[in-house]
Amino acid sequence: FRIAVLASGRGSNLAALLRAIGDGRLPASIVGVFSDKPGCGAIAIARERGLHAVALRPRDYADRAAHDEALFSAVGDVQPDLIVCAGYLRIITDTTVRRFEDRMINLHPSLLPRHPGLDTHARVLAAGEAEHGASVHAVIPALDAGPVLAQVRLDVGVGDTPESLADRLSPREHALLVACTTAIAGGRARLAGGRWLFDGQAL
Ligand code: GRF
Repeated sequence: FRIAVLASGRGSNLAALLRAIGDGRLPASIVGVFSDKPGCGAIAIARERGLHAVALRPRDYADRAAHDEALFSAVGDVQPDLIVCAGYLRIITDTTVRRFEDRMINLHPSLLPRHPGLDTHARVLAAGEAEHGASVHAVIPALDAGPVLAQVRLDVGVGDTPESLADRLSPREHALLVACTTAIAGGRARLAGGRWLFDGQAL
C-alpha cells in the first residue's frame, strides 16, 4: 500500500507513520514526501531516511495553480494509493482535489466542523471552549469540510495556551493518524464518491 505524505512542518506525524511501518503495525510504505517548504522538518526526516523527497517553493511558480500542478504531478508520479496531508499548510486547488478524489486525507487540529482553517488552538481558547481535538477527514474542494473518518478529543484546562494545547494534542494526533491510515491500508475504511465506508457500511 503506497502512501505519499504532504507536509509543511516538523514532520512529527510523518515520523509517527514511519514508526508504525517500522514496527509492523502499518502494512504500507511511504513512497514520497512532498512539501512547499524545502527547509521543513518533514523534508529533513525524509532525506535522513532516504525517502523520495520533493519540496517546491511557491515563489518559484507564477501562481498557485502552477505550483500545485508541479507538486502534484510529482505526487502522481509515485502512484500513491493514499495521499496523507499531515500539516500541509497550503490550499490545494479543486483540479488537484478532483484528480485524487477518494485517495486524499487530511489531519486537522480541531473537532471539525468547528474551526476549519489556521490557528485552531488560539481560536478554541478565544471561544472559551471546554473541548478541543483533531480530525482525520477526506479532502474535498471545500477547505477542511470533507467527511470525517475519526476524531480524538482533549479537555481544555484553565491554564492552557495555544502551545500547551498543541503539545498535548500532538501525541493523540499521531495515534489518530496511524489508526486511520492503518484502517485504510488494511481495506477496512475506504472512500467511495467522497463518502466513508467502514467494513463496507456507510459511516
Ligand atoms: C499537526 O498539528 C496537524 O494537525 C497540523 O499541523 C501539524 C503538523 O505537525 N495541521 P507535524 O509537522 O506532523 O509535526
